[in-house]
Amino acid sequence: MAGGEIHRGEIYRLWLWWRRRWGAERRRATVIWLLAAAFVVLLLAAGSRVGDNALSEPAVHPSSAPALVELTLVHDAEAKGALCLDGSPAAYHLTKGFGSGSDKWIVHLEGGGWCLSLDSCSYRKSTLLGSSNYMERQISFVGILSSIPSQNPDFYNWNKVKVRYCDGASFSGYRESEVQNGTILFFRGQRIWEAIMGELLQKGLANSKQALLTGCSAGGLATFIHCDDFRALLPNVATVKCFADAGFFLNEKDISGKRFIQSLYSDVVQLQDVGNKFPDCVSRMEPSQCFFAEEIIKSVTTPFFILNAAYDFWQIRYILVPAESDPEKAWLRCKQSIQHCDSNQLQTLQGFRNAMLSSLSEFKQKKNGGMFIDSCFAHCQSIDGYTWHSPNSPRINNKTIAEAVGDWFFDRKETKEIDCPYPCNPTCYNVDLSQLSSIQQSDRSSAGSN
Ligand SMILES: *[C@@H]1O[C@H](CO)[C@@H](O)[C@H](O)[C@H]1NC(C)=O
Ligand SMILES: *[C@@H]1O[C@H](CO)[C@@H](O)[C@H](O)[C@H]1NC(C)=O
Repeated sequence: MAGGEIHRGEIYRLWLWWRRRWGAERRRATVIWLLAAAFVVLLLAAGSRVGDNALSEPAVHPSSAPALVELTLVHDAEAKGALCLDGSPAAYHLTKGFGSGSDKWIVHLEGGGWCLSLDSCSYRKSTLLGSSNYMERQISFVGILSSIPSQNPDFYNWNKVKVRYCDGASFSGYRESEVQNGTILFFRGQRIWEAIMGELLQKGLANSKQALLTGCSAGGLATFIHCDDFRALLPNVATVKCFADAGFFLNEKDISGKRFIQSLYSDVVQLQDVGNKFPDCVSRMEPSQCFFAEEIIKSVTTPFFILNAAYDFWQIRYILVPAESDPEKAWLRCKQSIQHCDSNQLQTLQGFRNAMLSSLSEFKQKKNGGMFIDSCFAHCQSIDGYTWHSPNSPRINNKTIAEAVGDWFFDRKETKEIDCPYPCNPTCYNVDLSQLSSIQQSDRSSAGSN
């Protein structure tokens, strides 16, 4: 049961913090341009190296404001079994394609960690990661979902969907229901996937000529899990590919030698019967191992692109150095900002990067595979306008992530970009999570947890 309590609040707070940073992009869209720009600049100036660039970069112009996209609740969700943890209908946001993008589709699966116990899933029920009652009615589409050509050169005019994450197990669990102290929890990730794909097929996905399934973090893992399912739903003549962002979670030991992440996955897999999703794999090995991208990708036949930071801050925080493994809190500052790591800690991080590259070595041989493994302290780089495609984007061989993914999708160039080790890439946007501690306070009181 490792980490149930830690994860319950902490991962959620990290996610909220991330969304708020992302929400800054939405705020840019409001009429108060100067205030909004100042907010963004402040936020970034508090970050590490982008501060100066950000000050000299004009904020996004009003004419290029990201569009707000309405929330759609799954029709007849109860009959279809497509329910969030709390029994509310699953949901998604869809914006129609236009021009040459009218018959092309991008489907993004939202992320947000996992819940691994009845207790932590109950906590989620009263958040936007467990109930559509708490989801924003409108969100802005940015990064890979942006409709602005300069910010999203290859996909801006496609039909775009963001599937909301409210099942706690990467859209892949299924149980009828679970009763706890008179409260019901629904574990219906697989049904949510099926119901939403069903609606999208009716809304035009069935006739798509080109389609890309993507997602970040737990949604990146879901992209590995559902990639071939997605391919199978679409016409044979369509070009269908999958692109996972920050979903390559490593099955590595933490710094105290414990298999923290595997034990966490084991809890999730048992709680929500996720093993049913991988019948072949679970017959060969321990079910929790089947929930790792490294294992799943071995059997995926659809062309795939893996984007991951080699120093993925989520993985460093929860796989390499979970709180339990560092009782002295010697890693506190390093976990907040890679610039605060001492030389021993950096050496450990280099080991983590090596482990990631070695886990990717088999995939790297795949002819139709693409990759972008930058040496940044980052997580989810495709749904943020700055990191996806902007003058400040991280680049490898002078290519932004958007350019790399486009080159791969359209077969313009073989794209297997692996960055040199930290700190060699001056274009990295290295997140500084020390802002999280002040935000944690307010989340703690508002969420009333831990
Ligand atoms: C059920 O409620 C009791 C009493 O409030 C509590 O001690 C127990 O932990 C709860 N069970 C679960 C699984 O949360
Ligand atoms: C890098 O790419 C940009 C366009 O994205 C181009 O203007 C610039 O000349 C390139 N730099 C080098 C060193 O190739």
